[in-house]
Amino acid sequence: MDSASLNHAMIDDQEAQAAQTAADAFGQPGHESIEPMFINQRYDGYTEDNQEAWRQLYAEQMAYLPERASQVYLDGAEAIGLKPDGIPNIEQLNARLEPRTGWNSVPVPGYIPAKAFFACLAARRFPTTIVIRPLERLDYLPEPDIFHDVFGHVPLHADPVFADFLQTYGQAALHATTDQQTEELARLFWFTVEFGLIQEDDRLKVYGSGLISSPGESRHALESPEVDRRPFDLEQVIATPFEIDHYQPILYVLDSFDQLREAMLSYAGRLQPA
Ligand SMILES: [Fe+2]
Repeated sequence: MDSASLNHAMIDDQEAQAAQTAADAFGQPGHESIEPMFINQRYDGYTEDNQEAWRQLYAEQMAYLPERASQVYLDGAEAIGLKPDGIPNIEQLNARLEPRTGWNSVPVPGYIPAKAFFACLAARRFPTTIVIRPLERLDYLPEPDIFHDVFGHVPLHADPVFADFLQTYGQAALHATTDQQTEELARLFWFTVEFGLIQEDDRLKVYGSGLISSPGESRHALESPEVDRRPFDLEQVIATPFEIDHYQPILYVLDSFDQLREAMLSYAGRLQPA
């Protein structure tokens, strides 16, 4: 067995292949169900290095975030049982999350196409990557991993307001018909779910997963004088292009998650067929 396959022993190759095929075919006739694109997390497949990567990332971020992350995020992380001592078991996590908001984290083999992703959100299922970044490169993340997806995203799904927002996002995105709408929705996701800031108790806090799960990016977002931090405004957000391969120069700051839910409902209203 080479090192690459050792690295992914938490995934069954055959199951992952079938799931990826289902994800790629999603939306075609006979492929309307989201279920076949999900896989199982083979928890025993994580190596000691994998567990150590989680422990180091968790320790570094949880030393930093208590004063700097949204309280809604921190409460969610506690509610779903995130722990310092190792990678979460998704089944156990869902047993705590699902009763709160109806959301579940669902392991997927890797990248899934946009429509499939939106269909999952519309069903309160969050497609979740279960591999973890290499221990040697903890702050480098070319694509999502379980620290980004579970530590970064899933705690907010325990909050009823954010939970509603994200489902509405998925439902709306399924109704997008033009390239412009698709682009606008991608921007909305980017500047909120991935890189959002929020004003809480007169302090600037992070809540976006790309910030929460990255030691470098979270510090840059809150501390760098080079960042243009703008009050959240739906029209401005959907008109702002973003760049993915460096620290974010522009970020948007929410007043509250209610503000985000309302903005999402308003945008969704424009996409419903007349
Ligand atoms: Fe993400």
